[in-house]
Amino acid sequence: LLRLLGPRAIVLVGLMGAGKTSVGKRIAVKLGLAFADADAEIERAAQQTIPEIFATHGEAYFRDGERRVIRRLLDGHPKVIATGGGAFMSEETRIAIAEGGVSVWLRAELPVLMARVRRRSNRPLLQTDDPEATMKRLMDERYPVYAQADVTIESREIAHDLVADQVIAGI
Ligand code: S3P
Repeated sequence: LLRLLGPRAIVLVGLMGAGKTSVGKRIAVKLGLAFADADAEIERAAQQTIPEIFATHGEAYFRDGERRVIRRLLDGHPKVIATGGGAFMSEETRIAIAEGGVSVWLRAELPVLMARVRRRSNRPLLQTDDPEATMKRLMDERYPVYAQADVTIESREIAHDLVADQVIAGI
């Protein structure tokens, strides 16, 4: 598999709560690849948390940084990359990913997403009066775009380890 992949990256896309980071880490361990989390890389580069970046510079600034960070991660050695939920919405990023890796959409239903994001409140986009309605709107907007990923894997309420196995079998 690794020989077939060559210098390419495995890039996980999908909504907040789909399990991109947890599943990505497990794929990396199973394949002996490095793992990178784009959100964490942006936070490290900016020396600020994502909510702080959104609050002080706005979303457009965050998206600029996100595009740059993903391009840099794709240029490096082969790795598994977990992207933030909005990253794949950028056409420039989709092209960069298509050139440098295989994209995997971790698709999940609304209750699964909501159960997972409830445990982490660091998502500025969900700081709304009705996070579930916001998540539904994001599903409507984004699912047609995520569907352009090379592979789609259903991320159910099962162990992340099993989802990781399904991704490896699917790529
Ligand atoms: C975002 C998802 C977040 C983070 C930022 C914006 C989005 O990443 O990049 O809060 O637009 O969906 P996760 O999907 O890892 O939560």
